[in-house]
Amino acid sequence: MERSAAIVTGAARGIGRAIALRLARDGFRILIADLNLAQARLVCDEIITAGGEAVAVRTDVADEATCASCVEHALENYGRIDVLVNDAAIFADLVRRPLWEIEVAEWDRVFGVNVRGMWLMMKAVFPAMRDQGSGSIIYVSSNTFLSGVPGFAHYDASKGAVVGLTRSAARELGEMNIRVNCIMPGLTRTEVERTVDEPDRYDQLLRSQSIKRVSVPDDLVGTVAFLASSDSSFMTGQALTIDGGNTFH
Ligand SMILES: NC(=O)c1ccc[n+]([C@@H]2O[C@H](COP(=O)([O-])OP(=O)(O)OC[C@H]3O[C@@H](n4cnc5c(N)ncnc54)[C@H](O)[C@@H]3O)[C@@H](O)[C@H]2O)c1
Repeated sequence: MERSAAIVTGAARGIGRAIALRLARDGFRILIADLNLAQARLVCDEIITAGGEAVAVRTDVADEATCASCVEHALENYGRIDVLVNDAAIFADLVRRPLWEIEVAEWDRVFGVNVRGMWLMMKAVFPAMRDQGSGSIIYVSSNTFLSGVPGFAHYDASKGAVVGLTRSAARELGEMNIRVNCIMPGLTRTEVERTVDEPDRYDQLLRSQSIKRVSVPDDLVGTVAFLASSDSSFMTGQALTIDGGNTFH
């Protein structure tokens, strides 16, 4: 039987990279779709060295044409797309500022990638999943939608929109056996240096989390692997929070 294939956007680094490595370990053939092709190729090398299969395609998820060519690449290489992980977003490079100081262009850039980009990638993979009669789409939202983080109005609103997109897509695609779910991670320390990583932010976080340690990408990948697998075959439209018991909903 042909091995399953997954597209993971934003997998050149951070959480997306950890998800790609995990799905590859679970037997998926991986296509990494990221703006940063050089870095994405390094992640492919890691997967291939570990015995997996991976290709990288430079993709700007905010651009419909590159989303389409990414999907074409996946179909040429693997002949099918079983899973789409919509991880790519403007996050680590985003500067926090009061909502009255956010420029319209900055707001539009965040929504262009974090919302429109995720919808465009879903739209691009949809025909392949419909024709196969199956698929699992996993969005990466954030628990900041539940808690609200000062200085992150554009980001928090974009992550809320992702939950809405998950739910409406689940309703529309369910009868085609395409499932759509999202994860809502808490602040997760990755290898990337970021302005959100001020030390007192982590102190604050540990006070409000039930589990008293800082999250790392490997804390998230098991849930994504579950949503990608047939173990979750009767789940769709759900938003799963993975934040050490910080927020409950
Ligand atoms: N790290 C956290 O604390 C945290 C917490 C909750 C949710 N999240 C979410 O998890 C996801 C990954 O977070 P991260 O910390 O790894 O982020 P990151 O900013 O370190 O990495 C994002 C990746 O997406 C890529 N990317 C950005 N814009 C793109 C575009 N237009 N097209 C294609 N690729 C693009 C980047 O090149 C990069 O490889 C994001 O959706 C983020 O919002 C992160």
